[in-house]
Amino acid sequence: MGFDADAVRRDFPGLDLQVHGRPLVYLDNAATTHKPKVVLDEYQRVYLEENANVHRGIHTLSQLATEDYEKARRTVARFLNAATDDEIVFLRGTTEAINLVAWTFGRERLVKGTNVVISGLEHHSNIVPWQLVTDLTGAELKVVPLDEHGDVTIEAFEATVDANTAMISVAHISNALGTILPVKEICQIANSRNIPVLLDGAQGMSHDHPDVQALGCDFYVFSGHKVFAPTGIGALWGKMQHLEAMPPWHGGGEMIETVTFEGSTYAAPPARFEAGTPNFAGAIALGRALEYLESLDEDAMVAHEADLLAYGTRRLEEIEGLRIIGTAPHKSCVLSFVIDGIHPHDIGAVLDQQGIAVRVGHHCAQPVMAHFGLPATTRASLSMYNTRADIDALVEGLKTVKMLFS
Ligand code: ALA
Repeated sequence: MGFDADAVRRDFPGLDLQVHGRPLVYLDNAATTHKPKVVLDEYQRVYLEENANVHRGIHTLSQLATEDYEKARRTVARFLNAATDDEIVFLRGTTEAINLVAWTFGRERLVKGTNVVISGLEHHSNIVPWQLVTDLTGAELKVVPLDEHGDVTIEAFEATVDANTAMISVAHISNALGTILPVKEICQIANSRNIPVLLDGAQGMSHDHPDVQALGCDFYVFSGHKVFAPTGIGALWGKMQHLEAMPPWHGGGEMIETVTFEGSTYAAPPARFEAGTPNFAGAIALGRALEYLESLDEDAMVAHEADLLAYGTRRLEEIEGLRIIGTAPHKSCVLSFVIDGIHPHDIGAVLDQQGIAVRVGHHCAQPVMAHFGLPATTRASLSMYNTRADIDALVEGLKTVKMLFS
């Protein structure tokens, strides 16, 4: 069975918009994805039918909301192949999850004399939390250099990790270039040296279905809004042995066992890391988004996305003066490019007038831009609901850009 992107598109009402009188061509999926109607309906249903605080009421609505919230945890655990449901902590998203790990697990391990290894491909969410912690502790931040294709080779990775490496935190897939990092090999090397690994799944979650046990990582983090769910919800998966040993981070309701003015004791994971009323409606909708993804033919979806990327690469290369930035052999769903003599912001503005949504700028990954000596690129980022017709529209849009600026 092939992948019917046109049928999938019909599940996403947001793709039917007109922008500036033109049909929307949405190519900004690395920034955020659209949501299928089943997810939007589920989100609304929670507020209409079971609006009540979770884990805090014996009344019926609270019980219903709590049941669905915990069902969503089971769905995330199943999707990631976690060993237990309790290894899933609901948080705001990737950024909050990396900060949590950095400020608890990381802060305890990253003492002076040690280092944390990241890659040159990271977006700011996987750089700045480690800088904040290492600035405080005196540990070092080491960066695996990129090659000219925007790739992280295993050789470069092995040359960066040393006997003092206490933590590794790398992207699964680069948001700026689409490079798929050799995460399984990275985890194997890390495991053989007993170094814990966090994988930033902000992009990996929707393009390269992660199996955390098969990958061999210690933490996997992601944002719901990049995987067809609402904004403001995401999750951290962590091995239970780590979560159990981690101190609390945010204090408040739900994360405690007992509280007196003399001191407090803390709940077991995941509650220990879910202080305050959680975004239960978002979590339930996230569970629905993952169920939706599970209902699709995954192999066919991967093949469709690979076809789009290959087709898009070919078509963009036909445009004179256009250079694709990020040409790693293993890539997913991102076409980042520059055009001689035309600023990305001008490209983005002219495309927008034609209803074509791309991102221009540094993509929250300034060091990646610096590696290529560029202030910015134009980035078309693809999702399963994109089609070759979207690529064709982009190419036509770029021809108009070139006409206006030549
Ligand atoms: N990290 C997001 C992006 O790539 C915001 O656009």
